[in-house]
Order: sequence, then C-alpha cells, then structure tokens
Amino acid sequence: MTTTTDTSVLSARFQETFGSVPDGVWQAPGRVNLIGEHTDYNEGFVLPFAIDKTAKVAIRLRGDSTVRLLSLFGGHGLVEADLSGMEPGSGEGWSRYPLGVAWALKERGIDVPGFDLLLDSDVPLGAGLSSSHAIECAVISALNDLTGAGLGAEDLVLATQRAENVFVGAPTGIMDQSASLRGAKGHAVFLDCRDQHVDLVPFDAEASGLILLVIDTKVSHSHADGGYASRRASCELGAEILGVKALRDVGVDSLEEAAGLLDETTLRRVRHVVTENDRVLQTVEILNSEGPASIGPLLDASHVSMRDDFEISCPELDLAVETARANGAIGARMTGGGFGGSAIALTPVGQEQQVRDAVVRAFAEAAFTAPDIFTVTPAAGALRLA
Ligand code: GLA
Repeated sequence: MTTTTDTSVLSARFQETFGSVPDGVWQAPGRVNLIGEHTDYNEGFVLPFAIDKTAKVAIRLRGDSTVRLLSLFGGHGLVEADLSGMEPGSGEGWSRYPLGVAWALKERGIDVPGFDLLLDSDVPLGAGLSSSHAIECAVISALNDLTGAGLGAEDLVLATQRAENVFVGAPTGIMDQSASLRGAKGHAVFLDCRDQHVDLVPFDAEASGLILLVIDTKVSHSHADGGYASRRASCELGAEILGVKALRDVGVDSLEEAAGLLDETTLRRVRHVVTENDRVLQTVEILNSEGPASIGPLLDASHVSMRDDFEISCPELDLAVETARANGAIGARMTGGGFGGSAIALTPVGQEQQVRDAVVRAFAEAAFTAPDIFTVTPAAGALRLA
C-alpha cells in the first residue's frame, strides 16, 4: 500500500509545477463505516470512522477565476478550468471533486477565486472508502480557511453533499463527509443524520486484541449508477406509504404493521433500514459498555440484512465476509454503498494471517480478481498541515 508524499515534498512539487509556494497544505481522510448502511439519507444513524489514509492538497489562491489541478497519482495530466459561470456536470474524473466543492461554496455566496492545486492521496480508488470525499473534504477545508468563509463543520458537510448530489450527480447522503471532516483518532463518529448531532464513541480495537481488516474486493462501484438511486427511491416510497417524514421514524416494532401496507420488495428495503438503525444504536451501547469484542454479531446481522433485504452485496463481498468469519473473524460485513468495494472483518490479532490467507485462497478458487487486504485504525478528521 502506498503512502502519501510528505508535506514539505508536496509543497516543493507544487512550487516546481506552478512556480510559487502554496498558501498551505490540507489533508482529509477516507472512511470506513463500522455499521449503519443506507441509513444516512433516511435521516437515521451511522457509525463511521476516519481512516489513516488521506488525500493531501497543496493550494494557492489565484487572482483570476482559473483553476489548475494536478494529481501525483493516477497518471493524469494537468487539468484547467474556469470557475466563472461553471455549471454542474462540468469536469471529468477526479477534477469534479475540487471543482464541485468550489461551485458549492460559490452557490452559498462565498467569493471563491481560482486556485492552483496539487493532490496526492493514498485512499484506494473505487474501494468504497470514500476516496472522493477525502479529496472534497481536503479542498473544501482549504477553501474555507483561505477565503475566510469560516463555515462550521455542519455547513461544510452540507456544501460537500451539494457538490456530490448536484455537481457530480451522485444522490448520496452525509455520512462520508461527516466522517472525513469530524472524525477523531481512536473514535468512531456516531452521527444522527437528522440533526447532524455527533457523539465520538471510543473504538480502540487494538486494546481489545483485535484489528479491523479491510478486504478490497476490487469490484468497482459507482454511486452515480442506478443501484444506489433505486434503493433510495424505494426508501422514499416506503416512508410515503407509511406516512412518515423519513424511515428514521419507523421503529422495529412497527414492521409487522408495515408488512400489511408495503409490497414485498419495498418491505424488505424498509426492514433493512429500520433494523440497521437499531443495530447502530445497539453497537454504540455495546462499544460504550463492553467494547469492540462484543459487536461481532451486529456486524454479521448487518451484512445479512444488506445481502438479503437491501440486496446491495455481490458474490465477492459475500465470499470475503463468509471466509473471514469461517477463519476466525468475530464479525464481518460489507461497508459503504455496496455493489462492490470493500468488506471489513473484525479479527483477533492472532487470526490475522489465517483470515488473510483464507480470503486470498477463496478468491483464487472462485477465479475472482485477487483482493487487497489491509488494516485501518480510526484517525483524525480533516486538518491543515502547513
Ligand atoms: C455511500 C454514500 C453515503 C451512504 C453510503 C451507504 O458511501 O456516499 O452517503 O449512503 O453509501 O451507507
């Protein structure tokens, strides 16, 4: 796994590329969601954490409206754009993320000038770990500081969501950017997506003799594709038929009654969200009382619910989860939007190698692309480095 360029090296590369020193360097992390999937846009609960893999950006504001963007990874060339009159849908590839957050700040009436930007990131792309939000959160933090806009975390979260929903065209919720902007070392972010209330919940797997393995299945996914949007539409339909503002307002004890009102597919979609919200609350309670070693069954139940009721898993994710569980993981689930990306496996330190070997072997036997397996720990949210 690669690591990002050191801050001073990034600044030096910026100077070589753009001919002057940057105004500063910011970083923002990717995220892993411990539990609470597809609950954010239902105004429910999520429990992600910021990971120790980050996007770093060196930025210098310009005197005109030109934007020049260069990335040290991915082999893309310099991208140039003009912020004045820029419309949603502009830009290609990763350039949509910095352009999108600049557009969203301008939409709020903030005077964002052009800028030069050099990016580096070690958040794996397409792995369901929010590499795009890491970029967006690093850039929006930089522009917020440099323009003196002074927006608080909750507004930055909403502006980033506007960038994703309207500029990039992915109908996502607020979980990823909340983790990236509001994460803290050693903690998971318990977020109430209705009012953005955050409680930081201690999540120190190592102290319990555990590690959190990420199994990147290499099956790429895109939230701009139909699967995510159609799940969201089912949830909205369910809420409408049940006469509630959002599925957050449906309790587990109302599911039986809901069964009489909803068609079979909508019922299963609703059941996932309703039971998943409940699992998040239980996970937080258990983390606070007993610690990480006791949350395994909730992770397992979450995966089953996503596989069978929400139908957002895929054979590679199911194989990763099943193999990890059969070889010593105490709980495992797919994480993120689904249809590919990564699974997580909470694993006793002594079982790590066995889980890794077994998953690699199982993927080879199934003729799946070899997975990438690595550990993550809860790390700090977005910050200024220089
Ligand atoms: C993606 C979206 C989030 C959230 C998850 C599913 O990561 O960006 O808003 O909906 O999927 O939990």
